[in-house]
Amino acid sequence: MSPDRIRILAPATLSNLGCGFDIFGMALREPYDVIEAERTSEPGVIIESIEGPGSDSIPLDAARNSAGLAAMAALKLGRADFGMSIRITKGIRPCSGIGSSGASAAGAAYAANQLMDGALGPQDVVLCAAQAEGTGHGFHADNVGPSVLGGFTIIRSYDPFEIIRIEPPARLRAVVVMPDVLVCTKDARSVLPSQVGLKDMIAETGAASALVAGMMSGDIPLIGRSLTDLVIGPARAHLNPHMAEAMKAATSAGAAGAFLGGSGPCVIAFHDEDADARSIAASMSDVYISNGLSAHAWTTGPGQGCRRL
Ligand code: HSE
Repeated sequence: MSPDRIRILAPATLSNLGCGFDIFGMALREPYDVIEAERTSEPGVIIESIEGPGSDSIPLDAARNSAGLAAMAALKLGRADFGMSIRITKGIRPCSGIGSSGASAAGAAYAANQLMDGALGPQDVVLCAAQAEGTGHGFHADNVGPSVLGGFTIIRSYDPFEIIRIEPPARLRAVVVMPDVLVCTKDARSVLPSQVGLKDMIAETGAASALVAGMMSGDIPLIGRSLTDLVIGPARAHLNPHMAEAMKAATSAGAAGAFLGGSGPCVIAFHDEDADARSIAASMSDVYISNGLSAHAWTTGPGQGCRRL
């Protein structure tokens, strides 16, 4: 029997991973949002409250909120004869590049599906969340996909939609550094080039293919040297001060490679579990601090997707 009330953990995610713009994503162990959802007899979706970092900037109006829109899409697709009220506790600061609005959307779509007793398959849950996410800044599922499914994900195709999940290497770890800068995904997408040169396409296709090979074989050095970004990152460099220096500091301190999280500003370093994560985090943070910006760093790793608490 489906529950009337439910609490869902929805994880933050890394997207792009350098060469896989709008294609690659990975769920993180932390941070995460918590979505509490309750069945209502009235149809429709209500956001009752939003708490946590950056919550003041998020609209309570369900029609303008990624969680509200995702829940509406899921209830509609599942032909639910009830509505849903939602309380959101943000653990993921908005405008960070680690899938804040995507996690709320994923958690709300997942919660709606649990209230419908699992009427939708996982790919439909991802699509409902992606539609909601796309209302703000263009359809992309590389954050909501891994937030729902966990692990490392590849969008094989958007039309028809197909997403593939791969278990990341057990030894893979991540340092996430979040400088005190806000990057709005909508703005960061508006600065992208509409065309890509053949030379860059060849290099990025090679890197993306090798990155998948590294994920499947557990080759962390191969993953690290495949985190290239010749097109998207450079176009966004002016929105993400000191990102190149932070990436260089990461590899100098022993990381396998580094990349910009989604549209930024978080910079992520991948490393083997034996590397000195604290030294990588300190070296990256120092880049921002010595340039007059504060930065928060933490160590984490690949995580599971949305789940019940
Ligand atoms: N792939 C998206 C982008 C992720 O880079 O715009 C946004 O978080």
